[in-house]
Amino acid sequence: MNRAPELAERLLFREAATLAQSAYAPYSGFAVGAVVVGPSGRNHHGVNVENASYPAGLCAERGALAAMVAFGERSLRYVAVAAVDGRDCLPCGLCLQALAEFGDPAIVARMGGEVRVVSLRDLLTAPFAGGDGARCEPSGDGAGEAGR
Ligand code: THU
Repeated sequence: MNRAPELAERLLFREAATLAQSAYAPYSGFAVGAVVVGPSGRNHHGVNVENASYPAGLCAERGALAAMVAFGERSLRYVAVAAVDGRDCLPCGLCLQALAEFGDPAIVARMGGEVRVVSLRDLLTAPFAGGDGARCEPSGDGAGEAGR
């Protein structure tokens, strides 16, 4: 999937862009906001939170994912991610793996200068799936424990 966003998806992206203004990104200067949506339709928010010890920093998407799970939802419908200043930004590989645990959401993000909607599995075709009996297959759904 790679399509233009519908109105509701544009609004989600705009919300993520507004959130990016609250990010804590003094080291990279790359402020990011993310909004994730589960079955309830509630919007869960995250921003990137960097740290003087660089690897301790957190991406916006995983912050928003943690908020969704803390709220009691375990299935993703949408992930909107936006950087400040209208810069292109897709979820990093680590975030794609973290998000894949909870399904195959539509990702709303700016790529090639345009806001587009793509599926997570188009970006990460073969997520790692651990645990007893879990299968890792390029063509499988790759859903983690929560997605099964
Ligand atoms: N970052 C995110 O928060 N989400 C992304 O999708 C890509 C990168 C953050 C991590 C780091 O704080 C900064 O952006 C620069 O990589």
